[in-house]
Amino acid sequence: MKQHYTIAILGGTGNEGPGLAMRWAKAGHTVIIGSREAEKAQRVAGEINAKLGEPLIAGASNTDAAFACDVAVLTVPYAAQNALLETLTGALQGKTLINVNVALRPPKVAQVYIPPEGSASEQAQAILGPGVDVVAAFQNVGAHTLEDPDHPIDCDVLVCGDKKAAKAVAIQLAEDIGTRGIDAGPLVNAKVVEGLTSILIGINIRYKAPGSGIRITGLP
Ligand SMILES: NC(=O)c1ccc[n+]([C@@H]2O[C@H](COP(=O)([O-])OP(=O)(O)OC[C@H]3O[C@@H](n4cnc5c(N)ncnc54)[C@H](OP(=O)(O)O)[C@@H]3O)[C@@H](O)[C@H]2O)c1
Repeated sequence: MKQHYTIAILGGTGNEGPGLAMRWAKAGHTVIIGSREAEKAQRVAGEINAKLGEPLIAGASNTDAAFACDVAVLTVPYAAQNALLETLTGALQGKTLINVNVALRPPKVAQVYIPPEGSASEQAQAILGPGVDVVAAFQNVGAHTLEDPDHPIDCDVLVCGDKKAAKAVAIQLAEDIGTRGIDAGPLVNAKVVEGLTSILIGINIRYKAPGSGIRITGLP
C-alpha cells in the first residue's frame, strides 16, 4: 500500500533538491526543504510553490526539518555531508535517511572516485549509527531531469541499503517521481551506484545530453 511520508530534503535549496521536492509534493507527501538558514529554505520553498501554483512545500532549518520528518533525503555537496550529519545524528534516530550524495572529487567529477570509506552512503551510515537506516538512491537522476515536474523521467533508480523496509520506502518514493525503483542490494554496493554518476556526468559532456540515465533490462 502506498504510504504518506513527511520528507525533509536536507540541503534542498540547491540543484537536486527542488525537483525531488516538487515531484514528491505533487505525489501527496508532506515536503520540507531544509537549509543551513531557515529564511533561505522558506524563500526557496516559496519559489518552488510559485512554480507549482500551490503552497505545498515548507522551508525550515536542516535541524528543524530533520526533527519533523519521517524520511530524510540528503542533497548537499559530498565535502559538506559529514559535518552536517554530525549535527543531525540525534534528530534522525529511528528514521530512514535516503542519501543522494555522491562521492566526487572536484574538479574531476567525471572520473569515478571511491573514497577509503567506500562511498558517501557508507560514510553517512557510519556517522549516523545503527539507529538510522541509510539507503542510497537517486544518485543517477540529474537535477536537469527532475526540474520540470510534469516531464516524465526515462530511467530507473538503483536502491542500496541493509534494511528491506528502508529500501521499500525509497522504492516507493522512486515510483512517486515516475521512475522504477530497483533493489540493488546492500549499502556496500552504493560505491558502484555513486560511481555510475561520474560515468553519466562524462556521458552528458561527451554527448551534449544533460539528462542521461540508466535502465535495467530483463526484469519481469
Ligand atoms: N545536481 C545533480 O544533478 C545531482 C545528481 C545526482 C546526485 N547529486 C548529488 O546530490 C548532492 C547535492 O547536489 P546539488 O547539485 O544539489 O548541490 P548544491 O546545489 O551545490 O548544494 C545543495 C545545497 O547544499 C547546501 N550546502 C552547500 N555547502 C554546504 C555546507 N558546507 N554545509 C552544509 N550545507 C551545504 C546548500 O544549502 P544551504 O546554503 O541552503 O544550506 C546548497 O543549496 C551532491 O552530493 C551531488 O553529488 C547531484
